Amino acid sequence: MSTVLIVGATQGTGRALAAEYARRGADVVITGRTQERVAEVAEELAGESGGTVRGLALDLSRPAEIAAALESVRTVDRVVLVGMVRDMNTTRAYDVVTATTLATTKIVGYTTVVASLRERMSADASVLLFGGMAKDIPYPGSTTLTAVNAAVQGLVRTLSVELAPVRVNSLHPWAIVDSPVVVDNEQLQDMAQKMTLTGRLATMADIVDGCLFLLENPIANGIDLTLNGGIA
Ligand SMILES: NC(=O)c1ccc[n+]([C@@H]2O[C@H](COP(=O)([O-])OP(=O)(O)OC[C@H]3O[C@@H](n4cnc5c(N)ncnc54)[C@H](OP(=O)(O)O)[C@@H]3O)[C@@H](O)[C@H]2O)c1
Repeated sequence: MSTVLIVGATQGTGRALAAEYARRGADVVITGRTQERVAEVAEELAGESGGTVRGLALDLSRPAEIAAALESVRTVDRVVLVGMVRDMNTTRAYDVVTATTLATTKIVGYTTVVASLRERMSADASVLLFGGMAKDIPYPGSTTLTAVNAAVQGLVRTLSVELAPVRVNSLHPWAIVDSPVVVDNEQLQDMAQKMTLTGRLATMADIVDGCLFLLENPIANGIDLTLNGGIA
């Protein structure tokens, strides 16, 4: 049975992917920033799937604490980095604290998880990093997010070389219609939908399908997959 670690899975896409792996019979480890919340979600997921789901507390914005937080994870086959908190930042009103938290989370935090686990990854392991289309399409307030999502592509380049034969890929969604940050925001949905060529926004299930391709296809490596219906 494979072990799947999903960092940032107490809600949204990380949770949906954890549910799918639990249904498939994997040994699933999820993380969130607090032990109480992650234990609660792990219990829900185990109940829904009948599978094995364990919760660990880990804060990606505090990279010096990550290795210790992952000590109980033994051999791991799939590592998925999803967690983040969006900031709203422009150069006109630049918030250094939220920018530093997001940049640390996605760049140093994601890399620290991989570095901490590299000796415990199986030979056919794969790693998936989450970015987002803000990397190519800035919007008001996306300055940090645009920069860090673009940096995720740089991480794919270097980590796929460093970790070979372990595979490393990234997935860059556009607005995910049923995700917690989008589901109640009709204005955002309208704007985002109008920009797609399919006239349809991704669901979390669509994104989970893309994750499974990148994580499971044995020849998928070094890919930055944009999964957005095509943007005009
Ligand atoms: N939703 C979208 O429309 C969309 C669009 C483009 C890209 N994306 C990308 O897709 C990924 C998933 O987005 P989502 O909207 O589905 O997720 P989400 O609802 O924003 O959930 C984020 C998860 O990350 C965890 N988290 C937050 N800060 C963390 C930290 N410092 N350390 C560790 N975990 C942390 C949260 O758990 P706790 O609160 O329990 O810690 C939560 O489980 C993100 O990387 C995002 O950039 C999403």
